[in-house]
Amino acid sequence: MDRFHIRGGRALKGLVRISGAKNSALPCMAAAILTPETVTLHNVPYVRDIITQRRLLEDLGATVLTPELRTHKITAAHIELFEAPYELVKTMRASVLALGPLLARFGQAKVSLPGGCAIGTRPIDLHLRGLEVLGAQVSLESGYVVARAPASGRLRGAEVNFDKVTVTGTENLMMAAALAEGQTILNNAAREPEIADLAELLNRMGARVRGAGTSVIKIDGVEGLGGAEHTIIPDRIETGTFLIAAAITGGELELKDCVPEHSGVLIAKLREAGVEIEEINRSTLRARCRDGGLKARDIMTEPHPRFPTDMQAQYMALMTQAEGRSTITETIFENRFMHASEMQRMGARIGIEGHTAIVEGPTPLTGARVQASDLRASACLVLAGLAAEGETVIERVYHIDRGYEKIEDKLRKVGADIERIRESVAVNSEQESSAPVIA
Ligand code: UD1
Repeated sequence: MDRFHIRGGRALKGLVRISGAKNSALPCMAAAILTPETVTLHNVPYVRDIITQRRLLEDLGATVLTPELRTHKITAAHIELFEAPYELVKTMRASVLALGPLLARFGQAKVSLPGGCAIGTRPIDLHLRGLEVLGAQVSLESGYVVARAPASGRLRGAEVNFDKVTVTGTENLMMAAALAEGQTILNNAAREPEIADLAELLNRMGARVRGAGTSVIKIDGVEGLGGAEHTIIPDRIETGTFLIAAAITGGELELKDCVPEHSGVLIAKLREAGVEIEEINRSTLRARCRDGGLKARDIMTEPHPRFPTDMQAQYMALMTQAEGRSTITETIFENRFMHASEMQRMGARIGIEGHTAIVEGPTPLTGARVQASDLRASACLVLAGLAAEGETVIERVYHIDRGYEKIEDKLRKVGADIERIRESVAVNSEQESSAPVIA
């Protein structure tokens, strides 16, 4: 398994280009299943989850061409299989996004249940309940969810009330409803920018989706969808991670190709904590540590537009360097504090009480051998390593490869001392594929 060696203590300085959002590209790729025509996506990040999603589409029978590195042309003219197998779902839970589109266009879908994952139990009951409201028959067979459309072959528009805000659940239902008969209303829908991005693509394909980005989404079903071309929005989690990289190293970074308004709450919180963030224009941010250092500030993760759970671990790394006591409360996922014990090994003072982590700062961090446990936890350890004195070795960096495009190259360009050590391929593939890596 590859690992990173980081020698910390260098202030980062320079320009970083933000890649496309993985969490937007994944549903947009799944949306291509809804039409026999070609869907062309630009600004697709070159990360492992995208390669997994591509493999799923190809296994189903779609063709995926990449005329340029970050452009995908997906044609699902001949789908021969209607199944997302366990082998793929266990490595990437977002494979479940095939469910809505397969069911909507072909009237049948079979998707493995995701099972347990590194950041707690993550059921898909809300996806299934929503599809049942649209008339699907859902059963469980040998670990697989098997869904069938009503006898007419078409789902029926209806009102779906989500008990809890779910991002991929909202996306699955939006895609299913796009080809349903009549109107669907999704109440308590997720409001993430990635939802609005998917809606934009669907509407370009001929769908009639209104309200995406608010908690009520209305979809008037159409009989068929066509091809479209779409550019994926920038990754707000990568943006946030680099804002913290500038602050935690006492450096100054300019981030290009981002959307500041997608990170409003995070930026406000970082400013409160003493990070100077300047919005140079609508797609460029500059971040540096204000004189006087960092101050402890509490956060609680909540659905968008509040503080994102996908930035919790990185923010915790920052708080180890802030003056005072901060509390970090995780309300979205259980068991999402595994990075805390790894940072304790680097000298951080963090206590866990239920869903809350209490961080005492500032504490000088020292390099250690640590292990990444999930995608965002690995980003947190990279940040801690950049701030630490001496060498940090991060194992299992395949987690970070799932969602960050060439992070070590981007960091090296702005002055970080980070190196990827590649290890024997045989050990690699076996251990990687058996690990539950889901985020
Ligand atoms: C998406 C993101 C992930 C992010 C998460 C929360 C993608 C590909 N992934 O994951 O990076 O961390 O949103 O912002 O976009 N839940 C249920 N039943 C369900 C569905 C969800 O109980 O059927 C619960 C989950 O266990 C969790 C909460 O709802 O506690 C939110 O999960 P959800 O928004 O569905 O996360 P994902 O869509 O999987």
